[in-house]
Order: sequence, then C-alpha cells, then structure tokens
Amino acid sequence: MTKTFDFSVNGKAVSVSLDNEDTPLLNVLRNELGLMGTRFGCGLEQCGCCMVLIDGQPEKCCAKPISTVAGKSVTTVEGMGTPQRPHPLQQAFIDEQAGQCGYCLAGILISAKALLDKNPMPTRQEIALALDGNICRCGSHNRIMRAVEKAAAQMRAGARA
Ligand code: FES
Ligand code: FES
Repeated sequence: MTKTFDFSVNGKAVSVSLDNEDTPLLNVLRNELGLMGTRFGCGLEQCGCCMVLIDGQPEKCCAKPISTVAGKSVTTVEGMGTPQRPHPLQQAFIDEQAGQCGYCLAGILISAKALLDKNPMPTRQEIALALDGNICRCGSHNRIMRAVEKAAAQMRAGARA
C-alpha cells in the first residue's frame, strides 16, 4: 500500500509517496528528489559517504528507513552552500584541494559541519573523532584535516567581524 511521508530537506517541505516504508532515505534523496550529492558507497552504514544531518545530527542514511524520517529535518550537502556562495568548509576543501576522487567528500563535509556547528574551535583529535565514521579510500586525510581546521578558523574570524 502506498504511504506518504512528509519531512523537510534543506529547509523545504517535501512529501513523497512510496510503496515500501523501509525504502532508505538515501534512495529517496537521490531517486525521488533528484539530490545526487549524497553518495551510495557500501550500503551497510560502514563508509559514511551517505552522511546527512537529521535534526542537526550526522547520520548515515543508506539503510535508514524513510518511515523514521517523517516529520524531521534533513540537510544534505546541497543545503550547505552553492557554487556561488559555498559554505566555508566547501571553500576550504577547494582551497586545500582536500579530495582526490571526491567520492567521500559529501559525507565528510556533513560530518565536519556537524562538528563545527557544535564546536567552533576543535582540536585535531576532535576533528579526527568527528570524521571517524567517514572512510576516504584515496587517503586524503591530512588535507581533509587541514581544510576543516582552515574552515573553522575562517568561521571564527567571520563571527568576530
Ligand atoms: S553508503 Fe552509507 S555508510 Fe556507506
Ligand atoms: S577523496 Fe577519494 S575517497 Fe576520499
């Protein structure tokens, strides 16, 4: 039986009708809503490339049934910024050339945003801990860490200005 699920994505109310209430949020974002930024990697909640914010908390969404998201607020990488107005994290990742293939980066940006939203001055260890659920097969970790530190510094400077 078809059911309708109402929630919000990147600040906009959405309503999707699906036959299967266990359909993963990731499939809904990509296939129903056309938001292709969030990636499918393992599909087993192991790699972190499907990370989104749900009510402000970073969560892997490749195995998260859509029924559990009803009434909640989802933020994807598309909701962080635009090419014209990138989030400071997105700009810092570009400046530091933090990715190689880039496949992991949407999930890493979301995890990093969740961290900086709570903790504007994280230590290197806190950044590593926040990104612990995100695998980067290219081994770009050092540049990714540098980019997060740079964005945090820029956001602090922006907040003071
Ligand atoms: S695709 Fe979701 S954790 Fe790997
Ligand atoms: S940049 Fe390729 S997996 Fe991270």
